Amino acid sequence: MSSNKNLLVLPGDGIGPEVINEAKRIVDWMAEKRHFKFNIEEDLVGGACYDVHGSAVTDATMEKAKQADAILLGAVGGPKWDNVERAARPEAGLLRLRKDLDLFANLRPAIVFDALLDASTLKPEVVKGLDIMILRELTAGVYFGEPRGVEVRDGVRYGLDTQIYSEPEIVRIMDVAFDMARKRNGKVTSVEKANVMESGAFWREVATKTHQDGNTDVELNHMYADNCAMQLVRWPGQFDVIVTDNLFGDILSDCAAMLTGSLGMLPSASIGSRDEQTGRIPAMYEPVHGSAPDIAGENKANPLATILSFSMLLRYSFDLGEDADMLDQAVETVLGKGLRTPDIMTDGAQEVSTQGMGEAVVAELDKLA
Ligand code: IPM
Ligand code: MG
Repeated sequence: MSSNKNLLVLPGDGIGPEVINEAKRIVDWMAEKRHFKFNIEEDLVGGACYDVHGSAVTDATMEKAKQADAILLGAVGGPKWDNVERAARPEAGLLRLRKDLDLFANLRPAIVFDALLDASTLKPEVVKGLDIMILRELTAGVYFGEPRGVEVRDGVRYGLDTQIYSEPEIVRIMDVAFDMARKRNGKVTSVEKANVMESGAFWREVATKTHQDGNTDVELNHMYADNCAMQLVRWPGQFDVIVTDNLFGDILSDCAAMLTGSLGMLPSASIGSRDEQTGRIPAMYEPVHGSAPDIAGENKANPLATILSFSMLLRYSFDLGEDADMLDQAVETVLGKGLRTPDIMTDGAQEVSTQGMGEAVVAELDKLA
């Protein structure tokens, strides 16, 4: 197979460049062994971009992002930029990419590999075989709502953010949830705080309406966000697709990630809507974990979340399901052999470095190809 797809790679900060290097090892392997050609461009984002350009992402990079068939991002942020004004902070680069490309659907699968059962802090019988999908709305809600900021009212300072969702924003994420559930186990849990928040009650109403509007072949139930956090650690097997807003999705996906043993295992895809003119669907893939400045540069980070993000890229952006399956299989085999980066290390396993893990995955791919 050959093709010419434009891939924009944004390694970012901290462990970002290290984990991206291992994903690039897979990209190279795909080019050589599967004859799948990517045009790769690499650029700065986050603190790395701020240090050079004074902003967390440049207009030129945004242009490239809009032209790309897919974006692979490492991680952004770190204490070095703690005192930078909010608009130029590393996180602002990530948020601009999400917002300007309208990547509203954020897929965060939490899968427990059998080989990693012991790495989870939960009992094996609770997490065995777990496969849930958190679908996080990514471009609205309190992350972007106006007004926001600090203001003085009657001589008292207030910090404020605004939680706000339009009906179309809820409808489109619910539609994605139902579509995904249809390809999985047919069950959607919609999560909000309808008991306390006006926007939560509205979310529930619109979710119900969208369900009735041609989606009743899928099961829909509703859950309060606090209960969902509790249920995730109590009995995660009850979930198939969890759909929720930007902030609850941020929190619940970290929680779900730990069911799998480590944040270092969780990939993600952020997908927008099809551009009618070009037919392109904008998409960005990134590990759920952060830049982990405490271990940056030490060759200790787990590259599997990034490698699995690349697998999602193959599957969702390039329709290369077979190659994605092969990559997922290679990761599973490597874990099955007991290779572990420090974050998922357990008794009797073999500790490997970031690079060692990437090389081991490539060695398995060689056997599968
Ligand atoms: C995430 C991260 C980001 C978020 C940060 C880095 C802005 O925590 O992708 O989950 O809060 O969305
Ligand atoms: Mg987060």
